[in-house]
Amino acid sequence: MTSLIIDTDPGVDDAFALALACASPEIDLLAVTTVFGNASLETTTRNALRVLALCGRTDVPVAMGAERPLVYPQVHEAELVHGSDGLSGRAHLLPSGGAAPVEADAVELMARLLRAATEPVTIVPIGPLTNVALLLAAHPGLRGKIERLVVMGGAVSGGNTTARAEFNLWSDPEAAHRVLVEERVPTVLVPIDLTFQCMVERPWLDRLAAAGPLGETLVGLTADYVAHYTAFFGKECTILHDAIAVAEAIRPGLLRTRTYPVEVDCAFGPSRGALVVDRREPEIIATFGSKLARSLEIAVETDVDEVREFLLARLAG
Ligand code: RIB
Ligand code: CA
Repeated sequence: MTSLIIDTDPGVDDAFALALACASPEIDLLAVTTVFGNASLETTTRNALRVLALCGRTDVPVAMGAERPLVYPQVHEAELVHGSDGLSGRAHLLPSGGAAPVEADAVELMARLLRAATEPVTIVPIGPLTNVALLLAAHPGLRGKIERLVVMGGAVSGGNTTARAEFNLWSDPEAAHRVLVEERVPTVLVPIDLTFQCMVERPWLDRLAAAGPLGETLVGLTADYVAHYTAFFGKECTILHDAIAVAEAIRPGLLRTRTYPVEVDCAFGPSRGALVVDRREPEIIATFGSKLARSLEIAVETDVDEVREFLLARLAG
């Protein structure tokens, strides 16, 4: 059994990620913590509560985290991708859930759960890294209670939000630098270079929708999100970035990784929020060294058919 905390900004692909965790018997979902990103903190929190209600998991505590980045404000632009309510304008179709977030904030709840854990906990950040940066800064003594971070974010070859930056890192570069560069907590980064490989197309979505009420409802949340990627790729498709990161947390090793020296660009220039990866050959780096501050495990490839079938089988129940 893997104890999991998911830190999230639902978000259409976040909704699939939460549903995947709820549908996986290997997972003990300790909590869901919310952060600004695809929508405001209030909206991402409401969406998280509704998705958990959809999955019959109103027992999972939801705690609210950061409503803005650590240092500099970031103009929120994700309505174009996830819709005005973060779920393609369909959030109202989900059960209201009735539940409310717990009193504790995200950092308090994560710290409390880590302190109480008898086994190390896997944390899966699938939005901006603000909450995790705050957790590690405020509770450094709890690093040893974290099994690993499985982080959805970053772009090795080209961004989705700017030419170089991926949305989660772009949303709070300073937090990303804290977590991915300054920390030494075991971490696997799942960048869009990997998640784009796992694109799903209309037939996959139709199979999921036909599989039962959960699949039908999840696919019903994808209209704006599919429209965005259809325009991007010229065919009916979408990319369930966050669900792929959760799939790795459920099945360690599903994604094959390589370790690279990395940095996060926090300068105010055209590549702010970019993940800088030194991909020169290891022998060259060993000889000449790398100026980049941390060696980080990055998911680089997977059996995409296996990932697609795993997601479908779990979400189809
Ligand atoms: O770049 C993809 C990431 O940004 C995903 O987490 C998606 O939900 C958005 O938050
Ligand atoms: Ca997300």
